[in-house]
Amino acid sequence: MTVRTIAIASDHGGVELKAQLVKDLAGWGWQVLDLGTDGLDSVDYPDFALKVAEALKAGKAGRAVLLCGTGIGISIAANRHVHIRAALVHDAFGARMCRQHNDANVLVMGGRTVGPEIARDCLRIFLDTEFEGGRHARRVAKLSEIF
Ligand code: RB5
Repeated sequence: MTVRTIAIASDHGGVELKAQLVKDLAGWGWQVLDLGTDGLDSVDYPDFALKVAEALKAGKAGRAVLLCGTGIGISIAANRHVHIRAALVHDAFGARMCRQHNDANVLVMGGRTVGPEIARDCLRIFLDTEFEGGRHARRVAKLSEIF
């Protein structure tokens, strides 16, 4: 069930890009769990990273998208959660590599740093690309040993 459900959240800096990506995801047949924010009022990005972290932990979604102005703050916040591997991505190569090598479960982008077409491409690639495993599985496992 959760495999085809994706969570998405942003602060005010990513809310316009979120609206576009929600439509894209629905058009591609994904069940979208939109955790806000819903308007341009200023909000705090750690609160929205937390909402996504909790949704993934509860099994409400298998993967997620997080957005803020740059993507930086919300990726730092998301990666404080041990079960999150959030990748801040700006291009198709990064979107592919974060899945193949890092098994990223959260795609992060900046609403003020990537255009809508680039963001759509990155999301499509993030969803379509499998983790390669092998030597990368050993490295990814070590990420969880830090905590
Ligand atoms: C909000 O103005 C902005 O700081 C936030 O969206 C993000 O870019 C932080 O990293």
